[in-house]
Order: sequence, then structure tokens, then C-alpha cells
Amino acid sequence: MNADIQRRRRAAADAVLGDRRSMPPRGDAEAFAPANIALVKYWGKRDAALNLPVTGSLSVSLGDAGTRTAIRPADRDSLRMNVNLIDPAAPAARRVSEFLDLVRPSSAAGFAVETVNSVPTAAGVASSASGFAALVRALDGLYGWDLNPAEMSVLARLGSGSACRSLWDGFVEWIPGTDSEGADSRGAPIDVRWPELRIGVWVLDDAPKAVASREGMRRTVETSPLYPAWPAVVARDLIEVRQAVAGRDLERLGRVAEGNALAMHATAIAARPSALYWRPESVAAMARITALRAGGMPVWFTLDAGPNLKLIFEAASGAALTREIPALRSLAPFG
Ligand code: PMV
Repeated sequence: MNADIQRRRRAAADAVLGDRRSMPPRGDAEAFAPANIALVKYWGKRDAALNLPVTGSLSVSLGDAGTRTAIRPADRDSLRMNVNLIDPAAPAARRVSEFLDLVRPSSAAGFAVETVNSVPTAAGVASSASGFAALVRALDGLYGWDLNPAEMSVLARLGSGSACRSLWDGFVEWIPGTDSEGADSRGAPIDVRWPELRIGVWVLDDAPKAVASREGMRRTVETSPLYPAWPAVVARDLIEVRQAVAGRDLERLGRVAEGNALAMHATAIAARPSALYWRPESVAAMARITALRAGGMPVWFTLDAGPNLKLIFEAASGAALTREIPALRSLAPFG
């Protein structure tokens, strides 16, 4: 990471931490944060160093599916994920160390970080969002910073953009903000409970994705002839999804979320070179959901930067849907 980028990121963390940076650690700490699935997607950065988005986005957190992280001061950084010690040179370990650089008091040389995902990483639910949110909560506990969720959201965003939405349960909107250093770019919870809502994870291919979301976004913003249309799509979809959530209107939520995911993928597919995340199985699965819906089943799909489908439905359809798709793993965002 170049020095100028690191300086700006560290300054953004300083703006949140202030003189808390000199507080001593309390021993060790542990925290949990939920994974989240975007119903209106974040796709494109206006500032790659600070993970500032071009548009807003809106997600639902996945209840008890997420990451539990324990942290303690140590001689040097180490990362254990689901009991496996990660090579410090591997991208996941470097990303965590680069994030710890932002909050590292000069006195502490390193941190031992242990994370456990309650949804297997291979299950197609992104672990970086819950991972960085849980890491920020664990650091807050370790140092006794006593940050509020909005402040933690700003810090988590520096680890992974979508992590800024994982500081709350339920529906969360990422307010893109206007500040050049990102002070106002953070999650904000939406006060609606929807106990019957389900998110189904349908894994079709668990190989690592061919194009990382960071690279996929960069390519799309810089080269896709369709990207200029994206901000207007998001603006419209955000209004509709907010209304669908407020009215617990599944048909409307599903229709708009599915359309938004397809529009996001259309911009990425048109990038040069293309950021095509779909596998033939993904396309067949989308057709299958469309056919089930035509047959009267209220179910819609969304896809992130990968080949797997996430289904949107209500508890009443759960049994029938699992009969149709035995591999489906159903998650309850509201417990
Ligand atoms: O936060 P990142 O860099 O992992 O990007 C997430 C991108 C999507 O999952 C495709 C969309 C989203 O809003 O979560």
C-alpha cells in the first residue's frame, strides 16, 4: 500500500479515535457481527483508498450468521480463521494487518486475531463484511474505546465497504456521504422488524471468485459503457426498497432487489475485460426461480460478486422451497 494512501486511511481512523489511541489494552476481547446481504447493491467507489461508494446501498443482516472474533495483544500479528493459521503473506492476513495498522497504538507491536464464521466461508456468504465489523467491535472492547455503532461503522468501512452495514441487525442503509475523507459515509439502521423474512443461500460453486469485488468494481467504473446508468438505477431502487421494507411488502422487495442485482451484474458484464461472475449453473438457477415464481411461489433472487444465488422469501414458503431445492440453506435475519 503506498504511503499517501496509508496516510489518508490513518487520518480517517484518527478522526474517529481522537486521543483514544493512547488508551492501553485491557487484556483480551471477543465480539460478534452478522453477515449482511445487499438488497440494493454497493458497486463502485468514488475513493478506493477510503472505500467511499459512488451510491448508497441497503442490506439486511443475517441474524446469528456471521463472524465471531477474539483479539489479544501479541508480539506480532497472527490470524487464525476457523482454526486454520493463515500464512502472514496470504491476502486475507495482509488485509487484516493493514487494517490493524490504522488503529495500532505505537506501543503495541501486534495482535493475535482468531475468527470463526458461523456460516462456512464456502457457503457463499461474504465473510469480509462480518469479519471487519466483528474486528472493530473486538478492538473497541479490547481498548475500552466505547465508540458508538456509527463511529464503528466508519472504521469498519476502511476494512471492507460492505462491513459498515454489519454493525446493526435488521435492515441497514449505507449513507454514501459527501465528506472527502468519509466522516459521514456509514451505515444507518432502519427501524423495521420482519420476523417472517428469510434469506436462502443456494451454493452452486464454492471455488474462489475469479475477480475480487474491488477489482470488479474498478473495472466496471473505469470501462463499462453501462456504468453511467447505475447511479440513477440505485436512486430509484432505494426509494422503492425503503417503501417495501416499511410496508413489509415481499413482492415489491423481491422484484426490486432482483432487478437491482441484475442491473449491477449487467454493468459488470459489460466492463472491458468483462467481470462475469455467473457460471452456467447460476443462469440455470435464475431460470428455475423465475419458473417457480410463475408457478405461484413467492421467491426472488439476488447475487453478489460470485456465482451463488441468495433467495428472498417468507417462512411460509420455506418447506416447499427446500423440497424443490434441497441444497438451500435458509437464514432468519430476525431470529
Ligand atoms: O465490501 P466489498 O468490497 O466486499 O463489496 C461488496 C460488493 C457486493 O457484495 C457485490 C455488494 C454489496 O453491497 O454488498
